[in-house]
Amino acid sequence: MRQVKTLGLLGTGVIGGGWAARALHFGIDVVAADTSPAMEQWIRGAVDNAEGALARLTAAPLPPKGTLSFTTDLAAMARQVDFIQENIPEQLELKQRVLAEVSRVAPPDVLIASSTSGLMPTDLQRDMQAPERLLVGHPFNPVYLLPLVELVGGKRTSAQALEAAADFYRYIGMHALTVRREVPGHLTDRLQEALWREILHMVNDGVATTGELDDAIVYGPGLRWAAMGTNMIYHLAGGESGMRHMLRQFGPCLKWPWTRLEAPELSEQLIDRMVEGTQAQAGGRSIRELERLRDDYLVAIQQVLRQFNIGAGATLRALEERLYLQNGAAAREAAARAASPGAAATGAASVETSQPLRLIETQVRPEWVDYNGHMTDSRYLQVFGDATDALLRAVGVDDAYRQSGRAFYTVETHVLHKAEALALDSLYVTTRILALDDKRIHLVHSLFRRRDERLIATGEQLYLHVNRTAGKAAPMDGAMRARLDSIRAAHAGVPEPAGFSRRLRLSAG
Ligand SMILES: NC(=O)c1ccc[n+]([C@@H]2O[C@H](COP(=O)([O-])OP(=O)(O)OC[C@H]3O[C@@H](n4cnc5c(N)ncnc54)[C@H](O)[C@@H]3O)[C@@H](O)[C@H]2O)c1
Repeated sequence: MRQVKTLGLLGTGVIGGGWAARALHFGIDVVAADTSPAMEQWIRGAVDNAEGALARLTAAPLPPKGTLSFTTDLAAMARQVDFIQENIPEQLELKQRVLAEVSRVAPPDVLIASSTSGLMPTDLQRDMQAPERLLVGHPFNPVYLLPLVELVGGKRTSAQALEAAADFYRYIGMHALTVRREVPGHLTDRLQEALWREILHMVNDGVATTGELDDAIVYGPGLRWAAMGTNMIYHLAGGESGMRHMLRQFGPCLKWPWTRLEAPELSEQLIDRMVEGTQAQAGGRSIRELERLRDDYLVAIQQVLRQFNIGAGATLRALEERLYLQNGAAAREAAARAASPGAAATGAASVETSQPLRLIETQVRPEWVDYNGHMTDSRYLQVFGDATDALLRAVGVDDAYRQSGRAFYTVETHVLHKAEALALDSLYVTTRILALDDKRIHLVHSLFRRRDERLIATGEQLYLHVNRTAGKAAPMDGAMRARLDSIRAAHAGVPEPAGFSRRLRLSAG
């Protein structure tokens, strides 16, 4: 299967727009195809709307944004993309026809995933060419913020297609949940619909309003569900003996039963009650307003869960780890060459090490810009911090090192602004180690604008190595110190950035 650089979208409504926003944000180009030309304006608006919340999801360094193009020619889209995500209306015959047509044009190693909420992949792949590359990739609205995607293979889907699709979805920050076998509604919609049927019954029977039923979730079970599912929660509800006790205590209720899973008739009266109830809950707020509110709390919840490394927070952490690693990939190579005593002895590293390390390539993202149109102050610190992160990873500060309770803390930073950086300017950072001892690193980062190689700013920083368990400064790992020392020695002859004068000195000891 090919590496996905360009995602093709088939159908650009609510779900297609969500896929576009997520993929573009993580550096994937998108070719969006829809039979209705009016959808071009719609999808561009949807991507813009998503940007506000997406931009706050993580501060980890992102690759340059992907580019979006739109076409009404489905075949043209299928010919030029690496992965196709289908998001047309939920009608089996329509999906079967369009998937078959597209499969005749898209090369056989291009995966085709359907966003279907409940159709079976075996039915969808029926008339396709190379049907082994068809799978269900079922996302959740808003696709750009909710990480879950259910992967379901049909009778003819290959295991490789499922694995490759999961890799791609993880790359764009999602949690890929592979369903063991196809069932209508997959896993999540089957669960959601069970709850929905109960809601419809209770509204129909006049037991509760839509607002009361939403309160019944929001103030209680909903809070738990953000990080533990029903099964774990019930395990906890059983006290010391967990699920076994829980089943003994509440098992008999299953026979009564409390629930009525057969759906009620959707009478006009029931429809009116549902509509009036939700309108009352909206309290005059527009769908756009409510979407913004939803997006804001979804971002906040994921950031909190990240601290606990649980549920969607664990997915966010894994994504950030990948982004930092990717950010430092070039740095790792350069630092490995500079720090390799063998290479230095043979002179093989002289070309690289006579230069400061070029650590990261980045771009001024639109949300980094202040009211003057320039990159705002705090983002300089962020970029310099990302460069330091790349350097430290390159010399061995990885997750295992951090888990062992050791880390570098920033002690002091001096930023000198030399020129402006505007939205979408491409930038890169070079780094020179100025001094070093067992516990401290003194370095200077230089931030350059790529289009004219202009120095934009310097960031002089002092880092202290700490043992977090002991809560105090401590010597760094010996091998790490040696690697940093080789880089520092190689940098001894490198001129300091123009106009830079040191504010910091490492005093002995
Ligand atoms: N809305 C949700 O919450 C949600 C969640 C998960 C999955 N899904 C699934 O995603 C799919 C799309 O749902 P949606 O809510 O985005 O629908 P939508 O009605 O918002 O968008 C469908 C789009 O498909 C386009 N279209 C129709 N026929 C087409 C064709 N032949 N070729 C290309 N484009 C065509 C339409 O112009 C429209 O823009 C469905 O299968 C749905 O079950 C929806």
